Amino acid sequence: MKSWINFLVLMTSIASTSTLLASGSIETGNGQMLPVTHAKWKAECSSCHTLYHPNLLPEKSWNKIMAGLDQHFGENASLDAITRDEITRFLALHSAEKSDNRRAQHINQSISASDVPIRITQTRYFMSKHDEISASTFKRKSIGSTANCIACHQGAEKGNFSESQVKIPR
Ligand code: HEC
Ligand code: HEC
Repeated sequence: MKSWINFLVLMTSIASTSTLLASGSIETGNGQMLPVTHAKWKAECSSCHTLYHPNLLPEKSWNKIMAGLDQHFGENASLDAITRDEITRFLALHSAEKSDNRRAQHINQSISASDVPIRITQTRYFMSKHDEISASTFKRKSIGSTANCIACHQGAEKGNFSESQVKIPR
């Protein structure tokens, strides 16, 4: 009986390891976030800043952001209820904890269970990856803000944060 249970445990762990390996390969071969698209999201969430890939925050954060669009970082970014709900569902579907992308998982793991950040730039992961860039660099005219990902990561909107593509503008 005992060895039968051991056998089952062994088989289960082999099965889950291979699922992990298999799901790892869903990630685009180059280790980047899967490019995603949604017409309304693209239209409504890219007019003021970088179109932030949904892998960059967990679902709880997107829900909070989408519930507070009337007071969105000092702007009124309100949407009609149907559009808002549609975009919220899209963001939730592709949120950090649902991705097997390495960077998405690190972002999610750097947020404590009780915290609901509404900024990617305030997550521990983001801060640890950008702590060597000085505040004055972020303030350059060509950059302006830590939130302006696309100034330095050309492929940001497609979910590409590859080190080989990073270029800090003068
Ligand atoms: C009317 C302009 C406007 C629109 C439209 C808008 N935003 Fe923003 N958003 C802002 C401003 C301003 C900031 C703060 C930027 C900064 O700190 O440099 C911001 C910041 C953010 C941040 C935090 C960035 C960080 O610091 O990590 C997220 C996430 C975000 N917006 C998501 C959205 C989403 C999702 C939508 C679409 C539903 C949206 N925004 C539409 C103006 C806008
Ligand atoms: C001033 C330029 C600049 C801005 C703006 C910026 N980054 Fe970065 N980012 C960098 C640099 C430089 C690195 C380090 C590259 C390396 O690892 O050598 C980096 C690293 C990263 C990494 C880690 C890559 C890895 O695997 O090591 C991620 C993810 C990332 N940035 C996301 C973002 C996001 C999301 C935003 C916007 C909210 C952003 N960055 C804004 C310059 C910038």
